[in-house]
Amino acid sequence: MLDWSEPSAPASHAPPPFAASPLAETDQTGLGTIDRRGGRVSVDDKRMINCRADVNQLLPLKYKWAWEKYLAGCNNHWMPTEVSMQADIALWKSRDGLTEDERRAIKRNLGFFAASESLVANNIVLAIYRHLTNPECRQYLLRQSFEEAVHTHTFQYIVESLGLDEGELFNMYREVPSITDKAAWALKHTQHLDDPDFKTGTPEADQAFLRDLVAFYVIFEGMWFYTGFAQILSLGRRNKMVGIAEQYQYILRDESIHLNFGIDVINQIKIENPHLWTKAFQDEVRDMVRTAAELEAAYGRDTMPRGFLGLNAALCETYMHFIANRRCAQLGLARVFDETENPFPWMSEAMDLKKEKNFFETRVIEYQNGGALTWE
Ligand SMILES: [Fe+2]
Ligand SMILES: [Fe+2]
Repeated sequence: MLDWSEPSAPASHAPPPFAASPLAETDQTGLGTIDRRGGRVSVDDKRMINCRADVNQLLPLKYKWAWEKYLAGCNNHWMPTEVSMQADIALWKSRDGLTEDERRAIKRNLGFFAASESLVANNIVLAIYRHLTNPECRQYLLRQSFEEAVHTHTFQYIVESLGLDEGELFNMYREVPSITDKAAWALKHTQHLDDPDFKTGTPEADQAFLRDLVAFYVIFEGMWFYTGFAQILSLGRRNKMVGIAEQYQYILRDESIHLNFGIDVINQIKIENPHLWTKAFQDEVRDMVRTAAELEAAYGRDTMPRGFLGLNAALCETYMHFIANRRCAQLGLARVFDETENPFPWMSEAMDLKKEKNFFETRVIEYQNGGALTWE
């Protein structure tokens, strides 16, 4: 059984130090001149970052956890258009099926995700892919990029189905301050990598790369998406917006693999480059997680000023503290908030599509499943 809640433990031994050849002479993109006298790659040559081995040779595999996640992603294929939106359309167009508070929360939720999926995809393709010098990890990044495209497609399909104002939704990340604050915070961490002269290979640059991984995998996908999932799945459990809820369930399953891939990547880079994981850097990462939880609490107050259907901003803040502590533990860091119970234990169940399918009573699609997925 595959359990994405606990990333597979990477090899525990640090590899031998790199050879002394200068980085400028190596090709980390895979698009350089072909070295006709170069040797075949062996497992020991492979590294997560700053690798000197040919990145076009997938085999032999070194990081089996990356390959397994690629296979699990392929086995979980889905498309938003396979989910019927009829019940959602009827409810959205009805006069009194939804309260104003519910409509506000749904629109802001969709608005946050609509642009966030693109931000995450751009970061993978334009920043992370260039600097992660391992072919099996790149194979997963290619799969993940497609999944992010499917997620963006989901929001296009929802906008079209419900007849929402597309300009309003796709501009919320610029126009709604509590959403802009989150997007701007994350983008700050990828802008270093956007510099065409940026290269990994120094402790400062490698730490900048790690910061980007933390900001996007651990925080954007691993923390901020979770309040959004809780809001929509909570509505779905009460038989409201069941089509969107089913789509979010599929997105949640994808995102839990994205998150756990990111955690494995960071932990493996730590093992191979222990000099980067200094006490000061660990404190910085914990600060990032703490700040991100505060930004999420502000977003929760903005989207749910009064609360609805058993959800409110205070509960979402508690949930974010629970998630923040969990992410710290996954990175081997001390928790940042007081220990707290998960206020939404039903979120664990939401990962199991077979259990939830009867609940939503939507059409039955037996997606092939990469083993039963569990969540904390
Ligand atoms: Fe996504
Ligand atoms: Fe994602």
